[in-house]
Parts: sequence; structure tokens; C-alpha cells
Amino acid sequence: MSELNNIALKILQKGKGILAADESTGTMTKRLDSVNVQSTPENRLLFREILFSASCMTECIGGVILYDETIKQQTSKKNLIPELILNMGSAPGIKVDTGAKILAGSPEEKITEGLDGLRERLKEYYRIGAKFTKWRGVYNISKSYPSKLSIHSNAHALARYSALVQECNMVPIVEPEVLMDGDHSAKDCFSKTSEVIKKCFEELILHKVDLKGIILKPNMILAGNKCKDKISKEEVAKLTLECLKNSVPSEVPGIAFLSGGQSELEATENLNLINKINDTSFIMSFSYGRALQQSALKFWSKDTKNIEGTQKIFNHRAKMNTLAAQGKWSKDLEN
Ligand code: 13P
Repeated sequence: MSELNNIALKILQKGKGILAADESTGTMTKRLDSVNVQSTPENRLLFREILFSASCMTECIGGVILYDETIKQQTSKKNLIPELILNMGSAPGIKVDTGAKILAGSPEEKITEGLDGLRERLKEYYRIGAKFTKWRGVYNISKSYPSKLSIHSNAHALARYSALVQECNMVPIVEPEVLMDGDHSAKDCFSKTSEVIKKCFEELILHKVDLKGIILKPNMILAGNKCKDKISKEEVAKLTLECLKNSVPSEVPGIAFLSGGQSELEATENLNLINKINDTSFIMSFSYGRALQQSALKFWSKDTKNIEGTQKIFNHRAKMNTLAAQGKWSKDLEN
């Protein structure tokens, strides 16, 4: 088994998933503003260090995606953040794209940037302990979008990124996120997501990426948040599984979903249902940002000294998702 395949499997073993704590400073500022906490480097670190030293890190969180600022910060005990994460039994990872910018030729869409100088940045992240990386391509659905141009150019960037990451002995998380914003139906989400993922794999194969050494991070198949025809959770699970079965090559070891604006409960419930009917060889787990942190952040913001209470909430959410990643979650466990 290749070394990269081993890393990917270890991150997602036994129901473990990924904590996406890689919000850029801009996004983290929005999150902190929403709970009336000032967004300073110290406060961003304070909250994140509480999460990274919680007990669920050992049992439930196989990897943490960090942002450039965090991976270089020191903990209150003067360890580097990657050391803390490794000591807890989890793997440090790093977001390496530099954000989604307006796509020339289709200004209502986005292209993710960050390829320039990437090889050198990767070497530095590897040196300070990163085992895996993340790059997010983003697509919106409307009558004419995502365009062929956006599907093609983002897939190309994801593939060039992945090839460089594997060259540097890290596992690339490939994240093509089809947004849930809009009034599109679940059927539209299914067809657009399928098209997006298929194109990604076409490019990954062209760029000679070892598919056994990646983790795919897709969206679930959901109706748009402004769509009147919502579908049942069972239908979400069925369509999501069908989409992935049809578009992901079987060599891929694991799929870790993003939460994408679902509530904490929804994201857990949907993951659980997907695993109940998962008849593929893919591990199906989570790589949640908001759906792992929301309640913990809200609690912490009211009493930033209450480390134990904040960790208790985060531990619970992580545990629920670890059960869901094995199809063993049920609603009564929430209380
Ligand atoms: P959400 O789970 O909040 O969508 O974040 C996941 C992520 O990493 C987005 O890039």
C-alpha cells in the first residue's frame, strides 16, 4: 500500500473525520463578529486551541485543516500547533489555495487561485508537519451555471494542485463545492455535481494523480436553500450515494463531505443515512467546518474562560458525527 493511501485511510479510520478549521482571517472574522468576539490573532488562536486540545481529537478527529496563520502559531504551552495536533493523535493539514476570484470570461463565477509558488509553499508546510492539504473549487448553480468554463478551469486547477501535493508526499483533499445557494432543485444539484466531479477526475487522471492517495470532499445532493420543493433526508442520502457511485473511481479510498450551510443536526443525520445505505468501498465521513464548530463557538463567545464547557460541546458534536460516519447515530443520542 502506498504511503499516501495509508495517510488517507488513517485520517478516516473507524468513523474518524476531519475538522475544517481553515477559515481565512476574513471568514473567521465574520464568524467571530456574529458572536460579538473581536477577531484578533490571539482570539482566533484561543478558540482553536480549545478545540485542538479536546479529548475527541484522539477518538473522532483524524485530521485538522488549518489556515496559514494558525499552522505557524504557538500554543499557550509554547508548542507549535501541528505538534499539539499530532500529540492528540490527529494529523495536521493545511489549506493551500489563496481563495476564489472572479473568473475572467464568466464574471459571475469564480476560479480558485494559488498555483504560483505552490511547490515552494508545500515544502515549507511539509517541513512544519503538514500531512495533507486542501484546495476548494466553488461552483454556483443557476440556469446557465456552472458554465463549461468554470467546470473545466476549476478541475484543471484542482488537478495541478493535487499533483504538486503528492510530489511533496502529502495527501490532497480535492474539494469541488457546488453551493446550495439558490432556488435550484435537488435534481439540478445531482446533475451539476455529477458533471463537476466527473470533470475533476478526468483532469486528475490526466495529471497522473494517484487516486489511492487523495480524499474527495464533495457537497451532498440537496435542493437549493431557496427551493420550495425540499426532498426527504432519505432521498438526500440516496441521491448523494448514486451521484458518487457514478462519478468517483473506485480507487479513491475516502470521501469526506463538507457541511456547506446545513445545520449541525442535518449534517449528522444525512451522513448517518448515507452510511446506512453505503454499499460501495468508499469510506464516507465528514470534513465539517460550521457543522462541528457552531454550537461550541456560540457557547465559548458567552464565556471565553470556560474551556471545559466549550470542549464538552465540541466533543459531543464530533462523537455524533463519528457515529454517523459508521451509520450508528440515532436522534436519542443527542440528549
Ligand atoms: P463547512 O463544513 O462549514 O461547509 O466548511 C467546510 C469547508 O472546509 C469549506 O471549504
